[in-house]
Amino acid sequence: MGRLENKVAVITGGASGIGLAIVKKFIAEGAIAIVADLVSPKEELPFFELDVTNVASIKQDVSEIVEAYGKIDILVANAGIAEKKAPVSELDEDNWQKVIDIDLTGVVLTNKYVVAQMEKQKTPASVINMSSILGVVGGPKSQAYSAAKAGVTNYTRSQAVTYASKNIRFNAIAPGYVNTPLLETLPKETTDSMIEKMPIGRLAEPEEIANVASFLASDEASIITGAVIAADGGYTAQ
Ligand code: NAI
Repeated sequence: MGRLENKVAVITGGASGIGLAIVKKFIAEGAIAIVADLVSPKEELPFFELDVTNVASIKQDVSEIVEAYGKIDILVANAGIAEKKAPVSELDEDNWQKVIDIDLTGVVLTNKYVVAQMEKQKTPASVINMSSILGVVGGPKSQAYSAAKAGVTNYTRSQAVTYASKNIRFNAIAPGYVNTPLLETLPKETTDSMIEKMPIGRLAEPEEIANVASFLASDEASIITGAVIAADGGYTAQ
């Protein structure tokens, strides 16, 4: 029996990279795992079209998913994009706004409407928000992405303490560099330096992040993260 039997999970950005690996891992662990993304996955998987920057789209998905599957036990707010790398004196304001809208506000908005549904269910639930190593340490020429991901991490800590007594667990995962299509959107000088920054001497694979997500989504995590929540208000895995 898998660790996520009878759970219904929604994974934003689930059509590609880390999100897709999470969808597959959750299915292997017995969950109904739903891809919520701008684009449909190449494989046959439950799919709802979603734009995390569009409140009407989020509300519609939550309502249609609950109608189809009865509940949402797990949300992985994973959808995200890379930024245009530049020192702040050369900041592209439009790109700043786009990255903040998707990578930070998009996480908060999907949390808002899914958590409202979780509160009604009154059963244990898990929210996992995708942060990044760049939300924890400073990387060169990063502005919107670092600001958004640091925002995701500390926002998640706040919600962890807010919802702990309601048994809705909030965690953020802050991966190092992961071998996904997102890296193809970055300049070569950035990707060249990534492997040497990784203590394991290689990029992480999406499946390794999916393993962390599957643990945090499971009821096995409730006692352990509950203890950490009490201690410091959050849990950041890397
Ligand atoms: P990816 O580019 O492979 O997948 C991102 C997915 O998000 C795509 O399917 C895309 O269609 C979707 N998406 C983009 N904008 C959206 C929107 N407005 N609404 C709904 N879906 C949208 O990227 P990857 O690498 O799998 O990234 C997933 C998450 O992990 C992101 O939040 C990223 O910032 C984070 N991350 C990635 C790292 C890496 O090295 N690849 C490292 C640390 C964090």
